Amino acid sequence: MCGIVGYIGNRPAESLLLDGLKRLEYRGYDSAGIATLHEGQTYLRRAPGRLDNLKKRLQNNPALGNVGISHTRWASHGSPSEQNAHPHQFGNIALVHNGIIENHEELKQELQQLGHQFQSDTDSEILAHLIARYCEQTPDNFAKAIRQALTRVEGAYALAILDTKHPDILIGVKQACPLVVGIAEGENFLASDFPAVLSHTRQFYILDDGEMAILTASHIQITDLEGKRKTKEPITLNWSPAAAEKAGYKHFMLKEIFEQPQAVIDTLCGRLDHDKIEQAFLGIQIEHLSNIERITLIGCGTSYHAALVGKRYIEALAKIPVEVDFASEFRYRNPLIQNNHLVLGVSQSGETADTLAALKLAQSQNAYTMAVCNVLDSAIPRLCNQSIGTFYTHAGPEISVASTKAFTTQLVSLYLIALLLGKQRGTLNSKDLQRRLENLYSLPMLLEKVLEHEASIQQVAKNWLKSEHMLFMGRGFLDIVAREGALKTKEISYIHAEAYAAGEMKHGPIALIDDKMPVVVLAIKDYLYEKTLSNLEEVKSRGAQIIVLCNEDDQKLRSLYPDALLIPSCPPDLLPAVAILPLQILAYHLANLRGLDVDQPRNLAKSVTIE
Ligand code: F6R
Repeated sequence: MCGIVGYIGNRPAESLLLDGLKRLEYRGYDSAGIATLHEGQTYLRRAPGRLDNLKKRLQNNPALGNVGISHTRWASHGSPSEQNAHPHQFGNIALVHNGIIENHEELKQELQQLGHQFQSDTDSEILAHLIARYCEQTPDNFAKAIRQALTRVEGAYALAILDTKHPDILIGVKQACPLVVGIAEGENFLASDFPAVLSHTRQFYILDDGEMAILTASHIQITDLEGKRKTKEPITLNWSPAAAEKAGYKHFMLKEIFEQPQAVIDTLCGRLDHDKIEQAFLGIQIEHLSNIERITLIGCGTSYHAALVGKRYIEALAKIPVEVDFASEFRYRNPLIQNNHLVLGVSQSGETADTLAALKLAQSQNAYTMAVCNVLDSAIPRLCNQSIGTFYTHAGPEISVASTKAFTTQLVSLYLIALLLGKQRGTLNSKDLQRRLENLYSLPMLLEKVLEHEASIQQVAKNWLKSEHMLFMGRGFLDIVAREGALKTKEISYIHAEAYAAGEMKHGPIALIDDKMPVVVLAIKDYLYEKTLSNLEEVKSRGAQIIVLCNEDDQKLRSLYPDALLIPSCPPDLLPAVAILPLQILAYHLANLRGLDVDQPRNLAKSVTIE
């Protein structure tokens, strides 16, 4: 998502910073900015939109100096405008920030009472004000002022900070967002990602949470947030720039699978305050939702599968009737739009032609429209912002054609929407809401646990990589997960994969079973477990080769079926997000072991902007 580049040395900072931002463009952004220091003055330049807009501004008004910070922003708090773009400056302090400050409202009110006025809608600007105040108390010790200010801050941040009074220092701090220090001869760098500065150095310190780096042109000091010095071993990266974009993973798909715990945190960031949903940061006009009597969820491919899960969430938690349709079917079936009907489009790219057209049709028939989307300001959000609005998933750029982190973050977004609707309608009491939100906080950790099983999933893939067909089956949420698993498998490994609701097998598809058919049975210890096991027996007795997706503690299934994809026990609502991960990893390894172009499978495009 957002990118940070900082420089201190003997060369003009402007062009180095712009070059670094250019190398982070692949991550996506909607505004950019830079600040440099020269002869006691801060040169701050920002622009909405592409980097070229910023470059144009710099052509007319160059940013002078050999020290500077820069940023590409993907908007979360506030629109992608110049004022909201980073760096933010107050007094002597200019800074760029990745992450979310959770107690920003409280800090803002406190600063306002002290007479501070804010120029932007961002949480980040508050940090510039806060640090500037502490600098007044310790004007000779810039680093100490930052440390003191940060004791007041709750949330996630990677920061690069300048002080006009200390033009020979550049400071970086990290807490729960990535930040690295690039080490070079007579110059040093800060960056949120290696590719930004890889053309200048291959030596890095990777900062850990709670660490501060104090950079001069010739020296780097690392401390903790109490000011205690730390010794750190630098690492040397041998990655090519292309490998660096993949953070060392062989493919974007694998990187994006492993990014899912963080992507979920990013979806939740700023939207929850302990047991409350922060309505102001959802991006939708909640008051209109209280009128809604019926909902149609639409999407294509993976987004359609997320919509199927969304239906179950909304019906269970908010008791509103929901239908789900392929966008391509909805738009041509003369759908019945009724009073107070909401059509909610789910789309990673925000550009999918069928979803866009279906939403336009709904709007033309006076339905409310709304989007769950990943790409900021794309066509679908622009359309829906004329009605209820857009709930952004904030998953970060998804580059691999096969959708992974977009799916899990769509599930989280739809879950939050269902909780919100449930609360609004009184179908969910505060205690129940609180319990479900607490469970939701555990999701990133549950996803991490699944990722720990990658090696054993790869082994399962090795055992089945010559398969020509595969069948996936499950019940309840796991029926939908099975469909998404089959889609992932077929689109990247080219194995013919289908999914069926386990209870449907005996109504036809069981005829396909013979001793060459691998069947992935999704059997979690829940209220449908015994029924799924009966369906497993049905296919097994017809000769099927069984792969199970089961709980880690299911010794019975694990001993009977060594090809087991394991997941930890989890709250029922989180099951779809947890259970899809092993299937994404299985599909990835099947495709990789078959020597296929995982990130760009044949015949497919990332954004389907034609019918
Ligand atoms: C599958 C996949 C596609 C997309 C579909 C919709 O891995 O990526 O099925 O989900 O093309 O795309 P969006 O979500 O961009 O509307």
